[in-house]
Amino acid sequence: MTQVTQRGKFITFEGVDGAGKSSHIPWFAERLRARGKRVLLSREPGGTALGEQLRALLLNHPMHLETETLLMFAARREHIAQVIEPALARGDWVVCDRFTDASFAYQGGGRGLGPERIAVLEQWVHPALQPDLTLLFDLPLEVARARQSQAREADRFEREPGAFFERTRAAYLARAVEAGQRFRIVAADRSLEEIREELEEVAASL
Ligand code: TYD
Repeated sequence: MTQVTQRGKFITFEGVDGAGKSSHIPWFAERLRARGKRVLLSREPGGTALGEQLRALLLNHPMHLETETLLMFAARREHIAQVIEPALARGDWVVCDRFTDASFAYQGGGRGLGPERIAVLEQWVHPALQPDLTLLFDLPLEVARARQSQAREADRFEREPGAFFERTRAAYLARAVEAGQRFRIVAADRSLEEIREELEEVAASL
């Protein structure tokens, strides 16, 4: 008798810089593991050796907006081929810090590239793949700014002015409306404990 492996779930975390998702992602992955899932943690841009090199360029090297967008999707193509698809196919779950919604939010909303251009790349790079669940960490700009890490030098995105993040946040929220069935908006201007409680509920419901 052949055994059919059940495909894993693909879960992404999104939100503007300072939304606090980084502190919740490893914890959420542990909660899934506690429920018996095999979970792979990854991030974008990055997730592969080549992707991490592209990340270093993307975060630090000035470039044309279209170059930036194409490199985000180049890193993503590699990440999907090498990491995400093989993991999902063998039944592992993938929890990823950012994915294509970030391109719509940052390159689209923040920098003003037309969403139809990004949609072409999305269709090209992953026509059949979408997250099963996207947790969008949403909070007012002032709170996000105050929370941004002071521990290291700000990267090209973190150095953007407040209006950039307002546009990024609005584009995330618009995307959550468009693809409502896979989005869950997490009010991120709450305590760590309150957010963990909500994430525990999410983990239990999956
Ligand atoms: P981030 O994931 O926030 O890492 P850190 O917490 O170490 O700063 O940083 C990645 C940056 O890349 C973030 O500012 C958003 C940006 N980004 C895009 O502009 N487009 C994309 O498609 C992705 C995946 C990220």
